[in-house]
Amino acid sequence: MIEILTPDELDRARATGALVGDILHALKARASVGTNLLDIDRWAKQMIEDAGAESCYVDYAPSFGDGPFGHYICTAVNDAVLHGMPHDYTLADGDLLTLDLAVSLRGIAADAAISFIVGETRDPEDERLIETTERALAAGIAAARPGARIGDISRAIGTVLKAEGYPINMEFGGHGIGSTMHQDPHVANNGRPGRGYVLRPGLLLALEPWIMADTDELVTDADGWTLRSATGARTAHTEHTVAITETGAEILTLPTR
Ligand code: MF3
Ligand code: CO
Repeated sequence: MIEILTPDELDRARATGALVGDILHALKARASVGTNLLDIDRWAKQMIEDAGAESCYVDYAPSFGDGPFGHYICTAVNDAVLHGMPHDYTLADGDLLTLDLAVSLRGIAADAAISFIVGETRDPEDERLIETTERALAAGIAAARPGARIGDISRAIGTVLKAEGYPINMEFGGHGIGSTMHQDPHVANNGRPGRGYVLRPGLLLALEPWIMADTDELVTDADGWTLRSATGARTAHTEHTVAITETGAEILTLPTR
């Protein structure tokens, strides 16, 4: 089902989006060399609860994971890219960390992800990976407006990823979002312009380009959730929730502070 939000629901989506953006921003500032992924999960839980919001993850049990996720944030390090389950791991200098967070506030969900390097050692190839997903997301958002189609967004994202030579996995991509985290339509990270659902004001989309440096193949971790690159190569993932407006797209998950 595809949801179109009412103006009141859109206002609530703005509040949820700002909360997600602010929590991710705060966690990025706090995550450093020596931080354990389980600390980040605890901090996320605390911030979600302090805001009176609900986690979209803790009880989530979709077909692509093994039982309820049981955590409050996805933490994916280096070759891990999607659904990274927090575990007892201490961040080291130069680690490439992705944080992916979705919460629901007053009945409306928002979903966002950021990738960044921990510490001082910055591998230029890691920076290129991250920057490419950020640029692909910006291109996808620029293509999102009423009358455009899902395929136009997919093409815009895919064009940026391909121009940098990265393979594109088509199993996981963006999605509609609203009263629940994962809804139709699916937004693949590559596709054909002019195809798919026509965008309308009030539609909320989570757009999420992600890449692995040298492969499009994923392997599932022993934890039954964490998806890693099959080659062990590093990865990046950037996501915003956006609302289709009368004139374009409004990013809902930017930090406000
Ligand atoms: N927020 C992720 C996405 O971007 C989904 C995470 S599901 C979880 O769509 F259960 F792993 F947390
Ligand atoms: Co998402």
